[in-house]
Amino acid sequence: MTMGLLDRARAAARPQVTGSVVGAMGLTLSVEGVPAAVGDLVEVNPSPQGGLLAEVVAVARERLTCMPLGELSGVHAGARVRATGMPLQVPVGEALLGRVLDGLGRPVDGGPPLDPQSLEFVDLASETPHALTRTRVAEPLTSGVRVLDTMVPLGRGQRLGIFAGSGVGKSTLLAQITRGTDADVRVIGLIGERGREVREFLEENLGEEGMARTVVVVATSDEPPLVRLKAAFVATRIAEGFRDQGRDVLLTMDSITRTAMAQREVGLSAGEPPATRGYPPSVFAMMPKLLEKAGTASVGSITGLYTVLVDGDDHNEPIADTARSILDGHVVLTRKLATAGHFPAIDVLESISRVATAVVPPAQMADAREVRRLMGALRDVKELIEIGAYQAGTDPLVDRARQLAPAIESFLQQPTGELTPAGDSWAWLNRIVRS
Ligand SMILES: Nc1ncnc2c1ncn2[C@@H]1O[C@H](COP(=O)(O)OP(=O)(O)OP(=O)(O)O)[C@@H](O)[C@H]1O
Ligand SMILES: [Mg+2]
Repeated sequence: MTMGLLDRARAAARPQVTGSVVGAMGLTLSVEGVPAAVGDLVEVNPSPQGGLLAEVVAVARERLTCMPLGELSGVHAGARVRATGMPLQVPVGEALLGRVLDGLGRPVDGGPPLDPQSLEFVDLASETPHALTRTRVAEPLTSGVRVLDTMVPLGRGQRLGIFAGSGVGKSTLLAQITRGTDADVRVIGLIGERGREVREFLEENLGEEGMARTVVVVATSDEPPLVRLKAAFVATRIAEGFRDQGRDVLLTMDSITRTAMAQREVGLSAGEPPATRGYPPSVFAMMPKLLEKAGTASVGSITGLYTVLVDGDDHNEPIADTARSILDGHVVLTRKLATAGHFPAIDVLESISRVATAVVPPAQMADAREVRRLMGALRDVKELIEIGAYQAGTDPLVDRARQLAPAIESFLQQPTGELTPAGDSWAWLNRIVRS
């Protein structure tokens, strides 16, 4: 739903009703004397510079329960509260390209304020494209990373998880893909990451030229949980804005695990019971809602890449489990490869793109399958080889795999600064298979 100029004028012209804070506890504020609906924003200690925004999460008679989108400290009982008359508004449009926004869609890059003339402000809530109006994923999306473009190919409108333990190279891989992709527009959500890393990411990984086609939405780990949670939806909403113009958007979210943790904090403080491993039910309701927004629609596409933290190979971890069931493909990074200095540390045999056959021509698919077959054969006898129990000549496939292993290795490894056009990657792979 779009908030037109008229609506905004009406909201501004409404009589200003102010109420007051009657209590604050944990992450919630109780407010009385302000008429507002669930989802609306209220402003505590209103001022021209902007007071503390809070979202109404529950209403009971005259009392509102609100969750702050900022620091609660300093808010006292009796503080004035103003109804804004509307839910959070998110900017969408061309003028966002090159900008860095906070979790609520406000610029934090020191640049000029957002110009309402050249942007549209829309509700955060948007309609998820209906399954039947979505076009099928049929076009490849180049990442510039050889192992991905050939062995785990991405499709425009696909949603893919990048699963890994901490410090194995998730963020570095995302940055590499962001630089190498041929998507029209990139939207980057950095959710719950360390502040230091964000700076590094922007300066070292993207650079000036990379920023020109990019919008970044950041909510670092020190921000209130509701802001971190909103940031994921704001980034997605901005990507939807571009998709609705018919653009192919790459949306990256680092990380979906931290987004789920933010929802956990919000849910628990709103009084939800912890259910699965300390996560309240709202977490498992939020994830499909967020992830289903990416994908194809009747026009344009959002290719979603989401990083998922898996701690110590815990496959029953509920967030990873839920993500895996929603997404249409996953890339697994392993510590074993990373510590061996093999980057990107992608475990090819454990990674799968469910759209591969739809976006890759059969001849190329056959080459990729052949490399998988060779890698699989080698993995099966790896231990035998290591203890010297494998005799050359026992299995022709294994022998061939051993012979080609160095060539495959150097194909799979790729320095972060290096980007390979997809056509070159396929030609390289074909040379290996034919040799
Ligand atoms: N492609 C690469 N080439 C060389 N080194 C890499 C590569 N990717 C990752 N590394 C090394 O691994 C470290 C951690 O990488 P990165 O921050 O991307 O991991 P992460 O999985 O995002 O970590 P976290 O879980 O902390 O977010 C880097 O600082 C770098 O030393
Ligand atoms: Mg990271």
